[in-house]
Amino acid sequence: MLSKKVEDILNVQVDKEGYSSHLYLSMAVWAETEGLGGIADWLYAQAEEERIHMLKLVRYINERDGKAKIIAVKEPPAEFGSVREMFDKVMEHEQFITGSINEIVQVCIDENDHTTHNWIQWFVTEQIEEEASVKALIDKLKLVGDHHMYMFDRDIMGMRGGEGEAAAE
Ligand code: FEO
Repeated sequence: MLSKKVEDILNVQVDKEGYSSHLYLSMAVWAETEGLGGIADWLYAQAEEERIHMLKLVRYINERDGKAKIIAVKEPPAEFGSVREMFDKVMEHEQFITGSINEIVQVCIDENDHTTHNWIQWFVTEQIEEEASVKALIDKLKLVGDHHMYMFDRDIMGMRGGEGEAAAE
């Protein structure tokens, strides 16, 4: 049984993961229509992964006798200036998500909810991986520079947007 505070903050996270999925989907559309198929593939995979994160939260809330809230998702931006600007936004967003996972951990401690505290550790680990994979891409982008975007796009093609799916099932 979840306390009201834990249920509420998990529901806030449902919305944030849903928005993450929308944001990366919008970025994928932008990249694809800019002719950057490799980057678009990475972002489509990332959008799928965020949906899996959202579902993981939904199922957990319901399983623990709470009720997941499905609300309207805020419209994400549609234009991103440049690939570098876009990936900087991805990093900024992932850092924001890491912050909200940390807030959930704190609420679990305050509410003495060891079960959810234990369960949410999957997300703690996932955020380390997500930030590391985005940082690796930004480092690569710094190396290739704007003039070699075609090479970067080929390079990223086929790379997945993270390794989290197996653990989310
Ligand atoms: Fe679900 Fe990228 O955080």
